[in-house]
Amino acid sequence: MGKGHLAIIGGTGLTQLKDLEISRREVMHTPYGEPSGPLTFGLYHGHEVVFLPRHGARHTIPPHQVNYRANIWALKNAGIETVIAVAAVGGITERMGPGVIAIPDQIIDYTWSRFHTFFEGDDLRSVTHVDMTYPYSDVIRQTLIAASRELGLNAVEQGTYAATQGPRLETAAEINRLERDGCDVVGMTGMPETALARELELKYACCAVVANWGAGRSEDLITMDEISRNLESGMARVKQLLAAVIGRL
Ligand code: HPA
Repeated sequence: MGKGHLAIIGGTGLTQLKDLEISRREVMHTPYGEPSGPLTFGLYHGHEVVFLPRHGARHTIPPHQVNYRANIWALKNAGIETVIAVAAVGGITERMGPGVIAIPDQIIDYTWSRFHTFFEGDDLRSVTHVDMTYPYSDVIRQTLIAASRELGLNAVEQGTYAATQGPRLETAAEINRLERDGCDVVGMTGMPETALARELELKYACCAVVANWGAGRSEDLITMDEISRNLESGMARVKQLLAAVIGRL
């Protein structure tokens, strides 16, 4: 696979890309351990992509146990330059109701105790403090936005992603705090994935699908059943979006 190719990291609700015409799977070993699974190479609507489901092919790896470093390192070493990360999230602010697709432009890291950097060990002379002012690639975000407009998907074109530790969901008070912090959606996988992608100079953007209202934002408690139902329809639209985006990149 040549330089410049695109990877899609699938989240909950997107553990398979059904239309992917698979050419090969490659098991990668990295200095950081094993990625979530083999990298799947193939053609998606006529364009080469690599697919990697973040939680494993059978959705067995919880957010706090994903080997983010191995995943990002494996993609980089496969010659990938661009990553679109698909993620299921909870909605916090009014415009982020279940089913909405959001293309966040900012992120706040509330995770802890995760391996969150490639810069450790013996060579601290190399760049350690990467710039994260704008955490997502603007080029990729604008491509997602343009494709979403063309398809009439009504994506919310900016917002702040709160990355929480999980795997439990938040308390109502925590959701209120996240809103006071300026967050629009909440998920458990945005960090350290976003920062690690920046450390390895990958162009990275997030396509988030709102699966439920954040805790305390609806009458009902949050169930996995509700999350799965909303993701099913949301991910169908995300697949449309991905197909349109790949052609433009
Ligand atoms: N909180 C955190 N992560 C999530 C949620 C949520 O409500 N829904 C889907 N992923």
